Amino acid sequence: MATFNLKVNGKKLSVDVDPTTPLLWILRDHLDLPGTKFGCGIASCGACTIHLDGTAMRSCILPVSAVGDKKITTIEGLSESGDHPVQKAWLEHDVPQCGYCQAGQIMTAAALLKENSNPSDDEIESAMNGNLCRCGTYTRIKAAVKTAAKNM
Ligand code: FES
Ligand code: FES
Repeated sequence: MATFNLKVNGKKLSVDVDPTTPLLWILRDHLDLPGTKFGCGIASCGACTIHLDGTAMRSCILPVSAVGDKKITTIEGLSESGDHPVQKAWLEHDVPQCGYCQAGQIMTAAALLKENSNPSDDEIESAMNGNLCRCGTYTRIKAAVKTAAKNM
């Protein structure tokens, strides 16, 4: 076990865990942030996507020991009142069905738009390609990303 001092959603938090523990389990089981979801556990579905210093990352394969002093942002910390342009666009387009994949989808979309505020259709498809949705909400996701881009 070892102590890790993490910066999560603007707060400094400490955990005493095995260094190989994936960040996803730290967030969900130790820090009570269940918005980030477990899907595949092998970096194949995107359900566990968070931001590390603003870049979209798969938290299910990221050992806590690799985080260092980078800033972690989860869906709970994307905006203070849930009104990030991506979240608003998701509501406007009524994107979610079961909702399970959607935190990861939103985090990937937010990271894309931070880097590229006017993505082409191909760029949206390429960026969102690794986030799977078993409910098939892809058409609405794409429309919502376009709406969010206009409001960033
Ligand atoms: S749970 Fe991490 S990519 Fe699927
Ligand atoms: S909304 Fe159900 S898995 Fe995407």
